[in-house]
Amino acid sequence: MAHKIGVLTSGGDAPGMNAAVRAVARAALQKGMEVVGIRRGYVGLLSGDVIDVNARTVSGIIQRGGTCLYTARCPEFRDMEGVKKGYDMCVKLGLDGLVVIGGDGSFRGAGDLSSLGIPCIGLPGTIDNDIQCTEYTIGYDTAMNTAMEMIDKIRDTTQSHDRCSVIEVMGRKAGYIAVNVGIAVGAEAAITLEEPYDLNKIAADILKAKKNGKTHFLIVVAEGVGQTDVIARTIQEMTGIESRVTVLGHVQRGGSPTLRDRVLASEMGYHAVELLEQGIGNRIVGLKDGKVYDIDLQEGLAMKKPFLHKRYEVLTNTAF
Ligand code: ADP
Ligand code: F6P
Repeated sequence: MAHKIGVLTSGGDAPGMNAAVRAVARAALQKGMEVVGIRRGYVGLLSGDVIDVNARTVSGIIQRGGTCLYTARCPEFRDMEGVKKGYDMCVKLGLDGLVVIGGDGSFRGAGDLSSLGIPCIGLPGTIDNDIQCTEYTIGYDTAMNTAMEMIDKIRDTTQSHDRCSVIEVMGRKAGYIAVNVGIAVGAEAAITLEEPYDLNKIAADILKAKKNGKTHFLIVVAEGVGQTDVIARTIQEMTGIESRVTVLGHVQRGGSPTLRDRVLASEMGYHAVELLEQGIGNRIVGLKDGKVYDIDLQEGLAMKKPFLHKRYEVLTNTAF
């Protein structure tokens, strides 16, 4: 059983990370473990930038966006030399368990550290939902709700001006946000890396709908496509409809987490502590068939995540 554990957040932040930190800390303290918070992810692990955590340290954070432990990207931790330094710091701090809240890169670091003998548990914290072995990541729901609310506002002005709005949502490597948000705002199209798209077809559909009385249009584009300006210009040229681009950007990473993210983060954090309590490491906690579970870290990273093809079909077949 672990006696003293660390918790850190790593990579891009996500709403709900604080709820996860709180759950890890409270559950571990209740089980009689000591807890330290490591600041700025692996950067803080390498430099020993830690704070002692008691039940009050994590008071009043469950509803807050961002991460109270701060986060960072740490290139040094990509090499075994850096990981070895991290191991030495864990030994120095007396840590016999570590919870890493972050994305797949963070999990690789956690796997490397586990291989050296520090049991590590990965909790999926990223708005992109691009972690293979889980149906939902912490922050995904909040980010989608934020994007949906923003696009609802964009619709108002788009409608007033008889325009087409092309809105870029986050997702460097994944189109999950784009497809779900596209459905939720009633977009005419969602353009993602995972599905082929045809601007000629979209423009033709727009013109047909215009003939039938439709006056404004919304197109959601996943950031990873990298063509948002070009798409807007092309649609304008092909249809003659004035088009505008909005890049939602980092607004999607902030804000108070939704109920779903708070509950998911709490359940996952609790599960991580249950594993460490038994001395189990090298696992990722995920959601499968709606239930929290854990999987071998390397096996989880090697999985291929299915795309939302059916949902994409729903969007494209209910759009006009
Ligand atoms: P993001 O996608 O937001 O950059 P990640 O979780 O993928 O977040 O990466 C965060 C951090 O994880 C990196 O800055 C680095 O410290 C660590 N990391 C990334 N890749 C690896 C790797 N292959 N091995 C070990 N650690 C890694
Ligand atoms: O957290 C993942 C993500 O939201 C990507 O979708 C996006 O491209 C990236 O973070 C941007 O992160 P940053 O601006 O921190 O580099």
